[in-house]
Amino acid sequence: MPRSHTPKVRRMNLWATKSITALRAEADAVGEHSLKRALGPLNLITLGIGAIIGAGIFVLTGQAAALYAGPAVPLSMVLVGIACAFAGLCYAEMASAVPVAGSAYTYSYATMGELIAWIIGWDLVLEYAAGAATVGVGWSGHFVSLLNDFGVALPSTLTNSPTQWCTAANVHDLVAGCAHSGLNLTGAILNVPAVLIVLLMSTVLVIGIKESATVNNFIVMLKISIVLLIVVVGLGHFHSGNLKPFIAPNTGDWGTYGVSGILRGAGLVFFAYIGFDAVSTAAQEARNPQRDMPIGILGSLAICTVLYVVVSAVLVGMVPFKDLNVAAPMALAMQRIGAPEWIRVSVDVGAVLGLGSVILVMLLGQSRVFYSMSRDGLLGKWAASVHPKFRTPYLSTIFTGVAVAIATGMLPLQLLGQLVNIGTLLAFVLVCIGVMVLRKTRPDLNRPFRTPWVPFVPIMGIICCFGLMLTLPQDTWIRLIVWLLIGLTIYFGYSRRHSILQRELAAGVPQQK
Ligand code: ALA
Repeated sequence: MPRSHTPKVRRMNLWATKSITALRAEADAVGEHSLKRALGPLNLITLGIGAIIGAGIFVLTGQAAALYAGPAVPLSMVLVGIACAFAGLCYAEMASAVPVAGSAYTYSYATMGELIAWIIGWDLVLEYAAGAATVGVGWSGHFVSLLNDFGVALPSTLTNSPTQWCTAANVHDLVAGCAHSGLNLTGAILNVPAVLIVLLMSTVLVIGIKESATVNNFIVMLKISIVLLIVVVGLGHFHSGNLKPFIAPNTGDWGTYGVSGILRGAGLVFFAYIGFDAVSTAAQEARNPQRDMPIGILGSLAICTVLYVVVSAVLVGMVPFKDLNVAAPMALAMQRIGAPEWIRVSVDVGAVLGLGSVILVMLLGQSRVFYSMSRDGLLGKWAASVHPKFRTPYLSTIFTGVAVAIATGMLPLQLLGQLVNIGTLLAFVLVCIGVMVLRKTRPDLNRPFRTPWVPFVPIMGIICCFGLMLTLPQDTWIRLIVWLLIGLTIYFGYSRRHSILQRELAAGVPQQK
């Protein structure tokens, strides 16, 4: 039977890659529709720190110690730091070789083809948009508690989500508001502070990249000072007895203390490291991206790794680890050691500000990914509009801001929070694969930064990140798959038919390398 060629051509097009020469030319184009190149190396490092230090260190470290890793939580931090270093080195090569705004989405488009690029672009929504929404809720909690410190009380109906997700176990355990499993109403109206912070940060992002960087620099200086303050004060109240035995015996359950607990703790504190990759989404706003992207990515990651290991060690040295499963473990530690009022308030202020800059950079990352996808025709044209005066992708920023504000104000984020880690890890795995693919397909490409020891580093990045994905619960995997299936439906329903690359290929336009 004669074979038809059409299905073969169609299938191959899914793997069509975008030319790196064309990508670089697009990014270098200057005009009123291009983004403003205003960021130097220091701004890029602070952008990374702005995104990294947040809810992870201020909230999750305590939970990871109390529930999983015990006093060995700094080891969880070291493990994740190493995994992120492998991925960070791969991001640094990709960002210097393909310095455009789409980050992992664009790297995949240039190496593994349109379908994988779409999948990763859709997956990045979990990292950036869901990340910003999750941190928005954390911000609201810290803000409300800070106001309480000053004697101001907001009604709980205006500071909580109107919905929550309940499991059958929650109903059985009589968790407040859980009448049945699934989506339940809580009686609250809207998490107003969470909505307002997201809208505020979106406004800053619309006004300008330089202005956003200035706000971020200010916050980063303050939050680093506060983390250092915790370390200095904490060292004076460090009880080595709290660390004995350093690896607490396993309770019999996998993942509670012992070595398995350190691994499970690592899966949780991974959230604390998310953000160094967001630097790469600002590539088209960097003055010298090929040189400075690696500095921003690796510099911010290195600084935060050191801070995290030290601060988590000091935390478990100050307070017995079993007491740390609270919403604000750093604040609890300061209270336990009887730190003066101004230090306790400073820690709360640090958390509020710190989480604020995470939201800012996550929203920045999401809007730049949408901007890049839209320029490729995979999303509506409007998302690539650049404001003539502010030179920011204002429509994608406003769209992202409104969508994240609705999510953070109304949705049960227990659902989304877990997805942020798995979504980010998947992006890291694909970027590591991308480095190896690009070394094979474009060995000639100018790479101002080269990942050392290829393929060892990318392979280790893949193993570590995939290993961390395996520590996450099964329902998180199911949600990831459902999310990706929704994305694939949109791709085959809309994006593929509007893809500029697919149209060029169909019209026989020759593609550059
Ligand atoms: N790393 C960021 C945080 O911990 C997402 O809040």
